Amino acid sequence: MQKLLFALLVGCTMMACRQKAEVSSPDESIRLTFRTDRKSGEMRYAVTVNDRPLFEPSLLGFVAQDAELACSFRIDKVERTTVDETWTQPWGENKTNRSHYNEMAVSLRRKDDVRLVLRFRLFDDGLGFRYEYEVPGRDSLVVTAECTEFRFAEDGTSWTIPANFETYELLYRTLPLHELEDANTPATFRTAGGLYGSIHEAALYDFPEMVLRRCDSLSFKADLAPLPDGTKARVAGRFVTPWRTVQLAPEAVGLINSSLILNLNEPSKIEDTSWIRPMKYIGVWWSMHLGLDTWAMDDRHGATTEQAKRYIEFAADNHIDAVLFEGWNEGWETWGGEQHFDYRKPYADFDIREIADYARHLGIELIGHHETGGNVPEYERQLDSALLWYADLGVHNLKTGYAGGFPGGYLHHSQYGVRHYQKVVEQAAKYRITVNAHEPIKDCGIRRTWPNMMTREGARGKEWDAWSAGNPPSHEVILPFTRLLAGPMDYTPGTFDILYERTRDSVRRKLWNCGEEVNMRVNTTLAKQIADWVILYSPLQMASDLIEHYEEHPAFQFFRDFDPDCDWSRALAGEPGEYVAVVRRAGGKFFFGAATNEEPRSLHFDLDFLEPEVTYEAAIYADAPDAHWETNPTACEVTVRYVTSADAIDVVLAPGGGQAISFLPL
Ligand code: NOJ
Ligand code: CA
Repeated sequence: MQKLLFALLVGCTMMACRQKAEVSSPDESIRLTFRTDRKSGEMRYAVTVNDRPLFEPSLLGFVAQDAELACSFRIDKVERTTVDETWTQPWGENKTNRSHYNEMAVSLRRKDDVRLVLRFRLFDDGLGFRYEYEVPGRDSLVVTAECTEFRFAEDGTSWTIPANFETYELLYRTLPLHELEDANTPATFRTAGGLYGSIHEAALYDFPEMVLRRCDSLSFKADLAPLPDGTKARVAGRFVTPWRTVQLAPEAVGLINSSLILNLNEPSKIEDTSWIRPMKYIGVWWSMHLGLDTWAMDDRHGATTEQAKRYIEFAADNHIDAVLFEGWNEGWETWGGEQHFDYRKPYADFDIREIADYARHLGIELIGHHETGGNVPEYERQLDSALLWYADLGVHNLKTGYAGGFPGGYLHHSQYGVRHYQKVVEQAAKYRITVNAHEPIKDCGIRRTWPNMMTREGARGKEWDAWSAGNPPSHEVILPFTRLLAGPMDYTPGTFDILYERTRDSVRRKLWNCGEEVNMRVNTTLAKQIADWVILYSPLQMASDLIEHYEEHPAFQFFRDFDPDCDWSRALAGEPGEYVAVVRRAGGKFFFGAATNEEPRSLHFDLDFLEPEVTYEAAIYADAPDAHWETNPTACEVTVRYVTSADAIDVVLAPGGGQAISFLPL
């Protein structure tokens, strides 16, 4: 009798095991349990961190037209692997990254032979999972919904922008999880237990973007950007989704220091990456946003041959690598209307050949610009010839723009948009052209696979300071913990004329794109603008103000010394929306940046990140004692100290202020 009971117990346990599988992170702090429901065959996962529940059992799966892909599954087999590898990239916050995870691939099967592999990867700094479906007898499928849930076990605080399939240029909200209705990703949170996390996705290809929508009190469900007919995606009978990711860390800066998103992307598909390099740039750009110049050719045209040469000369004289020109090609008259741009026809007053020759002669790179106004079909028709034309001129860097709706009811963040943005990246790579996309699809780490995809906008950038109430002081200290977890951002910091005192009353100035608001300004101190060059990582870093505002300004020395080609980065301290401090190493130089919201703050750091036994000249760009973002924003002091790794620094930040330090080895 006893023997039989034992046999039964073993049998039950084995059966139960078959419908449940567990995996933990290499350090065993994060545990994920996967289960299928015995009756319905629904699939759920749950997550604990240090034995405290993070996600209660949360649904998994998809729904397609004529194919239900979320129920009736049984576990067929479970395969486990551990990977611990170190990989390098041509540029990035860190050129060397470690990818260390435990993978659990759960193979599921249904009576109708639909197969699914759910691939879970658990790292010490979070997790990712993706769906690999195989629907027999179907060449194609129409995906209509995603069922993935994130059911928080406890309340917390969140930092997000609203879910929106057309734009990310929205203000961040700090909300308790129980008040959050919807969010775009990266959706950053801190649980009541003090754990920091951020939900996002990795390797987004040929699929719509994912946003989060509340389904009940503390639970959120994935939603996908629709196609014009309301369905979500066209896929093959065999399809693999992007990774659903959750970065996790005991401290907020742990999220910034995580390379989980890149670790879940594939290695570079571009073999020779020697032509891809980080750069500092300036551009004929801010003058248009301020309303001094125009993009279209008229008596206030910004991109003229004369202006171009002036900017190229300034770049050559100030250790700046490249110059951007916007409003150089025909079509801007139609911006906001018909949106017809010609990407090979410079305006008559912009002699692109002469300009390209001049730039080459002075060793300066040109950054081309393709504003599409959202007219994707027309852009795709011209894309190949336009890229070839640029490459022939020696223009190997391209900024793109999609300021305007796509025709045919397609949304920027839909599968249609994702396909288009990817097409541009791949086509550009053929001509050795790098890409900086504005009004883009969000970054999901594809820069590892396509390192010519340098940077993008995808949040409210500096431009909003020119024609709106501007970005609030907290904005730039939320971005590192939210938008920048996805990847680099072309924020374009560096306004020195914070109050627009030198241009406000110019006879050339005609306000545009603003509503009631006419007293525009930048809502930071000058030192914070400088610190942003370090804090807001971008391999293409812009000094965005008019060059005449930099000439002879002592604080511009920071940008001359700055090297955007960093090898290593570390976020040292910070809280989302409150403050942040970051240090980066580029060759032998180190750059430090710290910034705060409206609150003044004093921080203390040991300089033990510096190389031992090296003396550095530390040039400190600090808020003056009476600086204040609102009342005295330009009071900035530059001082020099000599330091070693045995020293420490006290960093005093004014309200809305910041501090930047360059450490140059002697
Ligand atoms: C919006 C972009 O973000 C900005 O950088 C650009 O100048 C304008 N569109 C015009 O293309
Ligand atoms: Ca924009």
